[in-house]
Amino acid sequence: MNERLDDFLSINNDKIRQLPTLPVVAKELMSLSQSDTLEADTIVEIISKDPAISTKILSVTNSAYYKITTPVNNIKEAIIRLGFKDVKNIALSASVLEAVNTTRDKKTPYRLDYQRTFRHSMVVAMIGRSMAHWLDKSVADDVFTAGLLHDIGLLLLNKFFTERYVEVMNLFRREVSLIEAENKTFGFTHAEIGGWLLTNKWEMTDLIANIVNCHHTPSVAKSNEKHVSIIHLSDFLASKNMHNATSRDPLYPFDETALDILEISEDEFDEFDLEVRGMVFY
Ligand SMILES: [Fe+2]
Repeated sequence: MNERLDDFLSINNDKIRQLPTLPVVAKELMSLSQSDTLEADTIVEIISKDPAISTKILSVTNSAYYKITTPVNNIKEAIIRLGFKDVKNIALSASVLEAVNTTRDKKTPYRLDYQRTFRHSMVVAMIGRSMAHWLDKSVADDVFTAGLLHDIGLLLLNKFFTERYVEVMNLFRREVSLIEAENKTFGFTHAEIGGWLLTNKWEMTDLIANIVNCHHTPSVAKSNEKHVSIIHLSDFLASKNMHNATSRDPLYPFDETALDILEISEDEFDEFDLEVRGMVFY
């Protein structure tokens, strides 16, 4: 682990201990994740316990991402339209992200827009899945979930270390990338603390935690290089193409190793970029 992150965690031990525990809905969904033979009713029952998650599923289902023309009104219908796995993965991720939802913290000087972060994550998940379908279908589901969770550290830092994150944002606005601004301020990035949070506090799988941890640095990933590279490239495209200017990072550090790991050329990547622009709602 990055020593600066290690020091930060020990210095801020009191605060770290107060971080929320993994929401019950997420726990229940995670315990289901190994089984492929689940009944839709089981997932409807779990999701229905949490109105915020139910609302999120319906809003995502009816959003432009899925291009559904007739509105969906309940979780069972959402499962029919989106498929069981998507509903489960979105519910799991939304429930995990809810624990670091910044929307309710009205008084903080800088609040990252939670809805905007969720939208960005949804776009990264969708691009990641398209890329997985192109390159290796077997990684598609994990890439989708990791895409939804990849910036959880951003929300965590914003919510619990708000004042210092103001420094990051001030630096970021003065023409350094977000990652550089975080490294200068904290000595580690939202990717690293996000990976730590998922694996150490919330017992998510090492696979998802590792993708989150390395999503800005595929060249240093020691495992799951393919997943990590897909999320890095998807995040790069989302950061470049999002319509909303504040969701963009024009200096996003692009790690070319991702192309080598996935054995694709720059031209092929550019073609993919053009293709997803027609498919993904930025
Ligand atoms: Fe990120």
